[in-house]
Amino acid sequence: MTTLQDCRARDAADPLRTLRDLFTIPEGVVYLDGNSLGVMPAAAPARIAAAVTEEWGTQLIRAWNSAGWFDLPQRLGDRLARLVGAQPGELVCTDSTSVNLFKVLSAALKIAGEDAPQRRLVVSERSNFPTDLYIAEGLCRERSYRLQLVDAPEQVAALLPQTAVLMLTHVNYRTGAMHDMAAMSAAAHAAGALAVWDLAHSAGAVPLDLNGHGADFAVGCGYKYLNGGPGAPAFVWVHPRHAQRFWQPLSGWWGHAAPFAFTPDYQPAPGIARYLCGTQPILSLTGLECGLDTVLAAEPLGGMAALRAKSLALTDLFIALVEERCAGHGLALVTPRDHAQRGSQVCLSRSEGAYAIVQALIARGVIGDYRAGDAQMPDILRFGFTPLYLGFEDVWNSVDHLREVLVSEEWRRLEFNQKNAVT
Ligand SMILES: Cc1ncc(COP(=O)(O)O)c(C=O)c1O
Repeated sequence: MTTLQDCRARDAADPLRTLRDLFTIPEGVVYLDGNSLGVMPAAAPARIAAAVTEEWGTQLIRAWNSAGWFDLPQRLGDRLARLVGAQPGELVCTDSTSVNLFKVLSAALKIAGEDAPQRRLVVSERSNFPTDLYIAEGLCRERSYRLQLVDAPEQVAALLPQTAVLMLTHVNYRTGAMHDMAAMSAAAHAAGALAVWDLAHSAGAVPLDLNGHGADFAVGCGYKYLNGGPGAPAFVWVHPRHAQRFWQPLSGWWGHAAPFAFTPDYQPAPGIARYLCGTQPILSLTGLECGLDTVLAAEPLGGMAALRAKSLALTDLFIALVEERCAGHGLALVTPRDHAQRGSQVCLSRSEGAYAIVQALIARGVIGDYRAGDAQMPDILRFGFTPLYLGFEDVWNSVDHLREVLVSEEWRRLEFNQKNAVT
């Protein structure tokens, strides 16, 4: 049996515990939603204020050069590349994940169309995050491809001979289940298909090796585990073998080889810069820079490998404590127990009251979230574990509150059963 004292001892021995000081966490809050919106880096308010008052306020338009605004998407991309197994010059921070997915899927379909025109399928999972499916559906309609959804990863293999692009999200947003990127990319390549990856729940959460694991294209979120702030710019990575082959269709002037030549015709910039579109949101990129600083601050302490080891220890502990202390209350573990198949979140399903239980926990300061179930799965209580700012005592406290909410049936109160617009 794990005790509160055990958890405190693990925190005291944790070499990453000082990283929590890089964040502003409200008193009394245990934040288990960094998989949706990361905690604010303590440096962000002053840094963003400086970008406003010093850079915008005094340097005005000169700041595009003097404050380095112009190449901020590339500079941040080079730093983020270190976290995802990419090289400098292969990645830019820009636009949203949805928009970046449109760009890379367009490029992938164009390449596949030239190399293997008889392949007409884009294959993905029914359980993928809806924006990915919506973007793919739109593009497939436009380009006369068919979006084929599978219910289980094992069904992918049979479709690969007709597949142009395999489009997967590395860590599933609802279940926390993680794909083997190397194996799935290799299977796609062996069959002659391209592999597009969404890293929304992976970047900053699990070690990644885009080049080593055979990805062709990747996109991901800046506001989740990268702590970039609400609506922070996302990122886009293209394997160097593809980067020069096609200009993505959102061919705005920021992706031009010489934007300030103002020529009437489009000449794509070399490499990943052509994946930029229009003028970049500098204040939001500044927030993302603060977020990246927090993840990169782990580098001297073992980097992504150390963060991953702690994340698994936190999620293992959470699972064990829920099973020890909340048994008999109708919770079922949805997230895989196998470390190789688990992202940095734990999802529990419950046939009744999942939304209200999450609301009752939030009222107690334990912030997780809820995702609706479907025909295959009851409603889900979702808890994300960001090892940068969470400790083992936080895990203990969160399960303690969960137990109290369940035992007292506090969640039945009317106020916890009224749904907000954003769940
Ligand atoms: C897998 C995945 N892709 C994309 C998104 C969101 O994309 P966007 O930032 O464009 O809204 C999410 C949001 O949770 C997600 O989980």
